[in-house]
Amino acid sequence: MRQTMQKVMSLVLAAGLLAGCSAQSSTATASAAATTAAAAESTAAETENTGATLVVYFSGTGNTRAVAETIADTVGADLYELTPVDPYTEEDLDWTNADSRVSQEHENETLQDQVELTTTTVENWDSYDVVFFGYPIWWGNAAWPVRQFIADNDFTGKTVIPFCTSASSGIGSSGQDLAALAGTGDWQEGQRFASQADASEVAAWAEDVLAG
Ligand SMILES: Cc1cc2nc3c(=O)[nH]c(=O)nc-3n(C[C@H](O)[C@H](O)[C@H](O)COP(=O)(O)O)c2cc1C
Repeated sequence: MRQTMQKVMSLVLAAGLLAGCSAQSSTATASAAATTAAAAESTAAETENTGATLVVYFSGTGNTRAVAETIADTVGADLYELTPVDPYTEEDLDWTNADSRVSQEHENETLQDQVELTTTTVENWDSYDVVFFGYPIWWGNAAWPVRQFIADNDFTGKTVIPFCTSASSGIGSSGQDLAALAGTGDWQEGQRFASQADASEVAAWAEDVLAG
């Protein structure tokens, strides 16, 4: 903001000097200066990073959602849920059944790539410089529905903190795999929580992460 004000002030000062050189056109110059200053202010506001935090997550059965909500509440972040166009039913998620949707997608990466999200566009995406990124672990990896969001968005200039929930598996290389897919952003070491994660544990972790 200070930079913006400095920009605006220098434009106004420059315009003032110009106005001083030509008394006849001083009114027109002053008004042009005001217009230029307003344009500078609005451009700077669009590009300036506000330091805001976003929690992006996908959740099949609500466990990751609960963690995402706790993080957002704790650090005052906005929430963005990734929702497949064709939502997963309980039956779809039955990984013990070889014929279920997830089992078939697991067997066939082309099917995974076909899982479409309702939207991958975050309003004011440029204003977020910290993104918590959450997903359940599916067969040891990040659940694939998150991939489209990562492929569609530019994480340049953002600090990304992966988090996941699982029955027992660790986070493994899932965070690094997503970082490689993204190709941009400063991806941090992630954190795994139990399916029924303890909210106070999640809140303490989120506070620690933001405290650096
Ligand atoms: C398709 C599928 C595969 C899973 N694979 C694993 C796994 O490899 N390791 C594990 O510990 N839990 C696994 N789980 C359990 C989930 O990671 C766990 O229940 C998670 O908390 C679900 O989060 P959600 O409610 O946000 O979808 C799997 C669950 C599903 C539905």
